[in-house]
Amino acid sequence: MDLFVSGRLCLFGEHSDWAGYYTRINSRIEPGAAIVTGIDLGIYAHVEKCDKFRFRTALNDGSITDWLEFPLSIKELRAEARRGGFNSYIAGVAAYMMEYYDVGGVAIDCYKVTLPIKKGLSSSAAICVLVARAFNLLYNLQISVRGEMEAAYRGEILTPSRCGRLDQACAYGEKPVLMKFDGDNLEVEQISVGKDLFWVLCDIHGKKDTLKILASLNACYPFAQDEISENVQRALGKENSRIIKETVLAMKQGNAERIGQLMTEAQDTFDRLVSPACPSELLSPKLHKIMDDPAVKNFSLGRKGVGSQGDGMLQMICKDRESQEKLVAYLNCKLGLEAYPFCIRARHSVRKAVIPLAGFGTRLFPASKVVNKAFFPIVDYDGVAKPVLLAIIEELIQSGIEEIAIIIQPDQQEEFDRLFSNITDAHYYQKLSEEKREYNAAIQQIGMKITYIYQEEQLGLGHAVYQAHDFAGGEAVLLLLGDHLYHSNSGSSCTDQVICSFEQCGQLTVSLDEIDINRVSSYGCLTGQFVDSEQRIMRVEAIVEKPSPEFAEQNLAVKDEKGRKHYYSVFGQYVLTPAVFSALRKKVLAYREGSGEIELTDAMEEVRSAEGMYGYVVDGTRYDVGIPEGYKKAVTNYGSRVDKSTGASYGKE
Ligand code: UTP
Repeated sequence: MDLFVSGRLCLFGEHSDWAGYYTRINSRIEPGAAIVTGIDLGIYAHVEKCDKFRFRTALNDGSITDWLEFPLSIKELRAEARRGGFNSYIAGVAAYMMEYYDVGGVAIDCYKVTLPIKKGLSSSAAICVLVARAFNLLYNLQISVRGEMEAAYRGEILTPSRCGRLDQACAYGEKPVLMKFDGDNLEVEQISVGKDLFWVLCDIHGKKDTLKILASLNACYPFAQDEISENVQRALGKENSRIIKETVLAMKQGNAERIGQLMTEAQDTFDRLVSPACPSELLSPKLHKIMDDPAVKNFSLGRKGVGSQGDGMLQMICKDRESQEKLVAYLNCKLGLEAYPFCIRARHSVRKAVIPLAGFGTRLFPASKVVNKAFFPIVDYDGVAKPVLLAIIEELIQSGIEEIAIIIQPDQQEEFDRLFSNITDAHYYQKLSEEKREYNAAIQQIGMKITYIYQEEQLGLGHAVYQAHDFAGGEAVLLLLGDHLYHSNSGSSCTDQVICSFEQCGQLTVSLDEIDINRVSSYGCLTGQFVDSEQRIMRVEAIVEKPSPEFAEQNLAVKDEKGRKHYYSVFGQYVLTPAVFSALRKKVLAYREGSGEIELTDAMEEVRSAEGMYGYVVDGTRYDVGIPEGYKKAVTNYGSRVDKSTGASYGKE
């Protein structure tokens, strides 16, 4: 199995994790709070079960260590952990996992490390999370991300390293989280960012003594003895809480300018109130010189130190990608430093998606007799031959979808596992290029976002969707048909367009595609009134499953200003509200043997008449790969950008 664990960057609230722990001893201390995000630098590893505990790692200079081997003995692993150094982290977590879970050995080959070591990005926590995750996945322990964080923390504190509680946030991947520290309690909350935010991280080639910084600041706790200690407690307590609260709000709004101001404010507060407790390390002349550089100021909206602070790393936020690029070029080429750009992507209010795939795919017989239509191959825009389903899921993830439920028949599970779990044939794996191995690791990471739900009997699309009612958990969810591919003709993906439209309208929303009248009998068709000047957002007035052309002409035509008639079908993407699941529930309970299929369209019509519903005419092309002609068209056009120039849509023909 291939794994990737990112490094983590504390954006705001450094030191407040251990400071918040002191609330246990002094109740007047303010709980800690920090905003932490994963970055795309990290550790790539191949992991497998083994009868011992084996480990080797690539180093930042490209060399690779020899294999280290430990027997499966908690005592010996603990002793190794106490010895310190890089191996101690691995031994510490392995000791913890063996003590608390019924596991055997693992072999961990960290074949690529892109994360700089000892730069305040918690490379030690990343390796600890990686070891915990390797045990979790290889031994199918079903530990949540939060549980992996805990195991990583428990393992790391067996070593001499004095890690904090915020370091393990790397377990959440590249998503920002708000962490709150109150004594032994830790709360983690994901932050939905309103707009893409462009950051730069820079190694300033300075020096600092983290242990000295930590010792000096810890000396200010638990009871402040002088003004310096009082100031440190105020900065890491009340001042920090206020800044964090405002920053979370600014991040939700996607307000980069305000975040920049808050970064500068956080740095000023640190300089004024915390640095005097350890001036030799925290005056950070090099950091300040670069922060005060006129060009750096010009290209960025705000600047502050990283991690324990001091002359280590610098973080900055920029207005847009262009200024981010200019800043990185300036830092690298003019100042001779090492700067990395990273982006925190906007997240939508729709976090979950459902893909029903439990149908038989009879229209693709006999191909579908041997291969589920979800696995039919397609060459995507990246030039990679991949199953249709993977192309669909990758677009979902780009749109910020975090959890995906796939509805399948129970005996289809094996096919899905083959795609999303490890490669068992070692020979096949060895023949893959490094790039392909990385992609293989990425596919397994995608697999971690998937929940499989079984539809035991094929009673129709509505019945399949209803199986996901627990998964939806009262949230609005995106529904995608597993046999449709989408190509956007605009800057944002078809999925993004539908979700944005839902966010505007706040009601059940379906994507729409204009179709010829002679095709209406194959699709769910809708009619209504456009409510915007661009004629994209439609208040839906009726929805009919597979109408005859005569019925459609009489009842479903939407006339434009010149009196021409247009017909609209569902484009295959829906944002379902909880009301749809309630309506489906009634249909499922009322179902009697032989009474036909349980249709999603019927449930949507019920919700439309009770609460209203919107359609959005997507600027894009749909390929129905569940039918031979649609699949043929997708193989020819999808991924080649031919469709972009012609704007041809399968549904329009
Ligand atoms: P379709 O009716 O288009 O697909 O359903 P099908 O039943 O697989 O294909 P044919 O008609 O036999 O060729 C649309 C989507 O809903 C799923 C299908 O797998 C498809 O992705 N579906 C349909 C279910 O999951 N369960 C069902 O009972 C019916």
